[in-house]
Amino acid sequence: MRKLIAGNWKMNGTQEDLPDLDTLAKAHGDASVDVVICGPATLLGRMTTTGLTIGGQDCHPSTSGAHTGDISAPMIVDAGATYVITGHSERRTDHHEDDALVMAKTAAGWHAGLHVILCIGESEAQYRNGETLNVLRAQMDRSIPDGATPETTTIAYEPIWAIGTGLTPTPDEIAAVHAALRAYLEARFGAAGTAMRLLYGGSVKASNAGGIFLLPNVDGALVGGASLKAADFSPIITALE
Ligand code: G3P
Repeated sequence: MRKLIAGNWKMNGTQEDLPDLDTLAKAHGDASVDVVICGPATLLGRMTTTGLTIGGQDCHPSTSGAHTGDISAPMIVDAGATYVITGHSERRTDHHEDDALVMAKTAAGWHAGLHVILCIGESEAQYRNGETLNVLRAQMDRSIPDGATPETTTIAYEPIWAIGTGLTPTPDEIAAVHAALRAYLEARFGAAGTAMRLLYGGSVKASNAGGIFLLPNVDGALVGGASLKAADFSPIITALE
């Protein structure tokens, strides 16, 4: 699988931001890594006109129905997007999403033909108590459906305490966690687990991306704040190439 750099715009972005996205597309249209922007639902259709690969940030487990304000995986496909994020810690916290729901959303994404970036991560308290690996294994047990493949699934490790804080684990800590995640994926999915992409997310920026991308079992990044402007995101893409 090619490495992957994904931007998560979260609840940011209006039409005014599209020219800047065009600039990003022109600069990295022929990138040697996969570049994906996960935009707000309101912009997905228009974002696809840039030629970039576009993703949603969440999907409902059902395909349609009486779910005011929700968006289904087939609707994301209809907008022209090909990726979706599931299990982001902000969804888990803000919308009380548990692992079972994340699993159902992931399966819905697959069913619609979307590539799913499934997020896992420990809280600051769990990190301080040395519970990180147990928390991550439990999240993967309960939220990755059986049958995950590198073509359908990417796992993003995002320590909650590193998101938007400017803090990151040390390189040794990231490497140790990613080694444990790889071992888990290989034990559960065999060769598919060896090839499945593992992203790091949490305060990735141009100044730290190069060092993070050198670490074993880091196949790219899921980037929040630094993905919003082409000038910030472009050097991170270049660092992965
Ligand atoms: O999904 C990306 C993310 O939560 C990291 O956000 O702003 O720390 O890069 P940020």
